[in-house]
Amino acid sequence: MNGNRSFNRESAPSSSAHSGRPRQTARSHAWIRPALGLGAPVLDLTAGTGQDTLFLRQETPTDLPVLALDCQPEALERTASRLRAHGLRATLLRADHRETEDLLRQRQIPALGAALANLGYLPGGNRAIVTTPAGTLAALDAVARRLVPGGRMAVVAYTGHPGGPEEAAAVRAWWEGLAGSDWHTELDPADPPPGRPLFFGALRRGPGEDG
Ligand SMILES: C[S@@+](CC[C@H](N)C(=O)[O-])C[C@H]1O[C@@H](n2cnc3c(N)ncnc32)[C@H](O)[C@@H]1O
Repeated sequence: MNGNRSFNRESAPSSSAHSGRPRQTARSHAWIRPALGLGAPVLDLTAGTGQDTLFLRQETPTDLPVLALDCQPEALERTASRLRAHGLRATLLRADHRETEDLLRQRQIPALGAALANLGYLPGGNRAIVTTPAGTLAALDAVARRLVPGGRMAVVAYTGHPGGPEEAAAVRAWWEGLAGSDWHTELDPADPPPGRPLFFGALRRGPGEDG
């Protein structure tokens, strides 16, 4: 189990379902940032409105691929448009992230430097199209298998929509199962204020690294 897990509790409670979103997104970006120049592709598992993909593309060296997937064309269009507005492009793939393993195999991507997933539904979109525990955990398995030493992954999970608390609990259980000697993890406590998004971060340690 995880021998080096740190818990972080943020101070101000939120009053609406997604009011902690910008803060947790910024936290996810800060967590991932050190892993963006490791020489391996990076992946956004839920492109959505493209904010995370834009962050990855802006902060990752131009010679490294940035892939982003989403099951909804609307999300990919919004992401492409956001990137275009900044004169940037990424590899945008319409896919269920449950298929991440197959997708990365087909594309011959054996290693990843970083990956993030901002779970839930597309803001302003169809709330019935929402991430689920089975798909999310399958995607995380595929990412964890590929993260290079020093590689990082981050998940923001929402608890204010139907199925959200269950998905957050499933992510927590998966996170807690990461082997302690190979991973350093940082995650929020299990009892957030109602509706508060939860952050999960993991760093794959290099050989001989303790911290
Ligand atoms: C909260 S949004 C992502 C936010 C996004 N990262 C951003 O920067 O705006 C969640 C996204 O997950 C997508 N999604 C839901 N289920 C999915 C699945 N099984 N596979 C891939 N994407 C999925 C939704 O279409 C939605 O766009």
